[in-house]
Formats: sequence, structure tokens, C-alpha cells
Amino acid sequence: METYGPIIRNATEILHGGDYNPDQWLETPEIIDRDFELMEKSGCNTFSVGIFSWTMLEPAPGKYQFDWLDRIMDRMAEHNFHVILATPSGAKPAWLATAYPEVCRVDEHGLRQPYADRHNHCWSSPVYREKVREINSKLAERYAHHPALSAWHISNEYNGKCFCELCQERFRVWLRERYGTLENLNRAWWNTFWSHLHTDWAEITPWGGSEGNSLDWKRFATFQCCDFMKFEADALRVYTPEIPVTTNMMGFFDGLDYWRVAEVCDFISDDVYPGWGIDPDVRRILSECAMRHDMHRAMKNGKPFLIMESAPSATNWQPGHRLKRPNQHKLEELCAVGHGADGTLYFQWRKSRGNLEKFHGAVVDHVGTEETRVFRDVAELGALYRKCNDICGSATPVQAAVVWDWECFWAHQFDQGPGKEDQKKYCETVQTFYRALWTRNFPLDVIESLSDFSKYRLLICPMLIMLKPGVAERLKAFVAAGGTLVMSYLSGYEDENTNCFLGGWPGDGLMELFGIWNEEPGGIPAFDRQWLRYEGREIEVVDYAERIHLRGAEALAEFTSDPLYEGMPAITVNRFGAGKAYYLAGRTGEEFLSEFLGKLALEAGLEPVIPAENPGISASVRRKGEEEFLFLFNYTAEERQVRLPAGNFTVLANGSCCSGTLTLPPFGSEILKK
Ligand code: GAL
Repeated sequence: METYGPIIRNATEILHGGDYNPDQWLETPEIIDRDFELMEKSGCNTFSVGIFSWTMLEPAPGKYQFDWLDRIMDRMAEHNFHVILATPSGAKPAWLATAYPEVCRVDEHGLRQPYADRHNHCWSSPVYREKVREINSKLAERYAHHPALSAWHISNEYNGKCFCELCQERFRVWLRERYGTLENLNRAWWNTFWSHLHTDWAEITPWGGSEGNSLDWKRFATFQCCDFMKFEADALRVYTPEIPVTTNMMGFFDGLDYWRVAEVCDFISDDVYPGWGIDPDVRRILSECAMRHDMHRAMKNGKPFLIMESAPSATNWQPGHRLKRPNQHKLEELCAVGHGADGTLYFQWRKSRGNLEKFHGAVVDHVGTEETRVFRDVAELGALYRKCNDICGSATPVQAAVVWDWECFWAHQFDQGPGKEDQKKYCETVQTFYRALWTRNFPLDVIESLSDFSKYRLLICPMLIMLKPGVAERLKAFVAAGGTLVMSYLSGYEDENTNCFLGGWPGDGLMELFGIWNEEPGGIPAFDRQWLRYEGREIEVVDYAERIHLRGAEALAEFTSDPLYEGMPAITVNRFGAGKAYYLAGRTGEEFLSEFLGKLALEAGLEPVIPAENPGISASVRRKGEEEFLFLFNYTAEERQVRLPAGNFTVLANGSCCSGTLTLPPFGSEILKK
């Protein structure tokens, strides 16, 4: 198996630490002294610094003060800590917004926003760009050779849109590049509909009303973001070409296609705030975490990633302020490491004394000591990480992938039908398909439809309504070469512009691959009932059922209840070349899905990390040469016995040997080395 080098410069250990804001404490140097003592005690080694420090670095235009940061960087180096240094563009100084109001965004109603909050600057503004270039260059020049500088954290959680004239003009330029001529654009947006034909580029705005217009405006936000990121990174790379650059993502955030953002990052980092206080289903929470981790690992072809932010206890923005239960902190963080993270950091190291995040969880509370439950949780994890450094750079052996595609997500949002969004549930559905196999402990990648399919044996495409150019061909090649493909209802209806394929669905040649014709998509309202019969059992179908005809495929299940569907195929399989293509024409519950997909996975030759007969336990694996690291997670509130695979293991936490079975406490997790 491939192994990977350090994700940040000179780091050979699991990264542990967090957002550190010493600039809030310059008037109380004893608190900063105490921070460094506590950092050592907590087993932390990596700090992201300067994320919102612009006014502390440049209190007035062109007047810089780096002395406080110099001292922090030096102290970090003395302690052999790594600094992930931020560019401060996530929050702009008030002086900048006052002198140049155009750096503030214009909202969708055309109103220029006042200076307030953060993450609200115009990515097109030449002044904003120039000021960002200046401060980034100053930082990079000053710390280029500083031993503590290990990576760049550009900006913070890029998000949002600006509707100013400049941004709209850039949108039109972007559209010209994409479509070349207005005729092409009109065709792509199907603008003969409702008299939407454009005769001049200048007519085009974000509000045109066509589905294609809305979708492209959403795509444009990703372009703008990536363009701005490159701009930020270029300023740094002049001085620090060797220092890796990242920006913190937000899981399945709707506003950006993170596959494109990933292309601009040297390594992936993510901010993870599981809904411990929102969702009582720990299994669902953990599987959602695992799914985003499996995507972030896949985004760089298996390369380890970093959790840039997580909460050491409760956040201040989730309702309820429920505290993490014993063992849940370790469970959350080891889930990330088990799925390919080489480090987990926190927001935040120390609680601020005032302002909006003073009640947000932190490693160090206002009391300022190590005598807190949260500090002990963190220090315990830090001590464990110190015994796990061999894990760094290890890889995850994966043979199956689930496709999660941002543009497909957006297509489902903009398509008027079939059904409404609360019926479509794209996110939830892909998560359910993922969880169906995660429950059975099959290692998975989460990929986009443009990813390389050839390295997998099993490929799952839930609700892939949009087929971008070339995707259908690659799906065919995947199956022809022996792959097992599973596609669900609401797939293969439309092209990358959301225009429907003519001549039958699934389109773009997929009727041939699946050996079916999907005549008509149908919804199942809550007052209706629909069932399918599979191996003599009746399985409930909800939300969607399609009227499918066989065109060479074999039916594995049929709809049974509604006269309109009765006897029509509900699940089909078609042999194509050396592989098989399965189509699911109705939405079933997770239990059936898990049974069905689990069977296909075994038939495709996939091996689970541990057998599925370990209820309440999830497992993942990482490998490096001959070494194997087995991660076990108990997502129940009860003690559980885990039946281990054959062989002798070492429990990394305490060095003890084990084989046969292992007991995990409620929400317990453990790393075993083989
Ligand atoms: C993140 C953000 C941090 C902090 C955190 C609180 O979205 O990047 O700066 O605000 O949320 O949970």
C-alpha cells in the first residue's frame, strides 16, 4: 500500500491542537505564559494562529505590527510546536470598509452590506484583493524561514456570494468563457422557455429565472472562491513555495463544490461539529462524520487530511448546549483518524473573555486551569496520540465508492420536480446508502462523478440525476471491465445543464448499460403505500417508485401493491461485459438497503474490516507496509464485546495484548495494532 509524507512541513506526529488567539490576551502576558504550560500538559503540538488578526497585524493602512506574532512564533518554535499560520482575509478591518465601502458585499436585494461580522467581503473588489495581497506578502516574507511555520491556513471557511456590479460582470465574463456564444448559452439554458432568450450578454444577471441561470450562478461562486484562493496562495508562494496551503472546508456545505476547492489545496482540512446535542442517534452522527472523512481522504487520492476545527465540548451555536458524554470526544476524534486524518485540532484553544464566542467550547476554560473535565479529555487524547505516531502517512485500503456530487445536489435543488426537496432528500439519501455499507464495516471512498472509477470493484450512485459529459461512458467502461454498479431512482435524467435526455432514461446510453427503460418517475405521497417483493418478502417503498421496463435486464424484485405498478420491476440487474449493473427503481428503508448492498459487496469480493455480526460497533482500518491499525468504535450507550479478526493485537492506549474479543465501554473507541 502507498504511504504518504507529512501533510504539513516537518511533522512526523499526529497533529493535535487548535485555533489559538493570543492577540486577544496581549494585555495579560501571564495568561499567554500559562497557555504554553497548558499546551505541553495537553499533549498538543499544532496551533492555527492569526485567523482573524488583521487589525492586530495592520491596525491602520500600511502600518504593520508583527512584534506580538514574532514572539508567539518564537515560543512555538522553542516548544517544537507547529504553526499553521492564517491569512487574515476572513474578517476585514473596519478602517478598510470605511475607506473603501466597495469591499463590503452587496446582498441579493442589491443592498451594500454594512461593516459587520466576518466572511462578508467582495471577492472581485480590486482594493480588497490588493490589501489581501499586501498583508499576505508581508506575512509570508516575514515568516518564510521561521522554523515554526508548517502550513498556511488561507482565510477561513470561504462562503457566501456578492451581487455587486463587479461580481455580476465577472459572472458574464465567466459565462462567455463557458459558452462562447449567446446561442450556446440560450440553448444550454433552454431559454426559448418563457421567452427567456438573451440577445445581449449585458442582460444576464444572477436573477434570470432559468434553471440553468441559477445553476451557473451557483457554479460561478465556486469559480470565484477558487480564483480568490489562488490569488491568496500565489502571494504566499512567492516567498514560501514549499509550505503547503489549505483552507478549512465545512463537510457537505451547500455553497461550494469542494471538489474544485480541493484542487487548490495542497492538503484537505475540514471543520467538523457533529450534532451531539441535536441528533440522539449516535450511529447516524458517527456515520455522517465517517462519510465526510472518507470524502476528504478521497479528494486527494487517499492522502491523509486534517481536522482543522472540532469542539472539545459544546459549541455555542447548536441548540441545547448539550455536553459531550464520557468517551464521546475520543470517539469523534478517533473516527477522523480511523478514516484517514493525520491530526485533529480544535476550535478553540482558549475561550475568549468576551464577544460572540465566549461560551463556545475550548480546551482551556475561563477558569484557566487543567482541572476541568474537558481539559482531561483533551489531555487523554493527546497522551494516546503520542503512542500512535506510526499511524501518520498510512493508507486506507478501499475497493468501493459512493458518489456524492455537488452539481447533482444543486440540480436536485433547482429542478422543479419530480417532488419537492423534502421528498428528494439528496443528502440524506446518499448518506443512507453510505451508512448501509458503513454499518457492515466495508471501507469506502466518497467520490464525485468526475472521479476515476477504475480502482473500485463496487460503485454506488444514488440519485445521480445529472450525468456530466463522459460520465455515462466511464460507467459503462467500469462495468464492462468487471465492476459492480448500483444506481438508484432519479438517476440519469438530465445533462450538465439540467436538460433532459431524449430517447429514454436512464439517458446518455445508460439504458443499454442497465438493460431497462425508465418510462415514468412517480412519487409516493405519505397517504399512499407501495411495496416491492424481493425473495418472497414484502419490502416497503417510500417517496419514489419509477415505472421501469426490462430491455434485457433481469428483474430481482417487483412492485406489488399499486395497480399502476403491479408486476413492474423494482430492482433489476444487467450483465454488461464482465460486470453487472443494478438499478433500484424505488426508495426502500436503510435496513433492506444494507442487506442488499452488503450482499453485492461480498459478491464483488469486498472484505469487511470486521464481520458485521458486531452490533453497535463500527470499524475502520489503516495500513502502512506490514503494519495494520484497526480502529473500533462503540456507538451505543452500552458496553459491547467486539469479536476481533484472527491474530494478536496490541492495544495502543496501554500496550496490552489482545486477541479473540475486546470489551468497549459505552461510546468507547480503541486503536489496535497488528
Ligand atoms: C467555525 C469557524 C470558527 C468558529 C467556529 C465555532 O465555523 O471557522 O472561527 O467560529 O465555527 O464553532
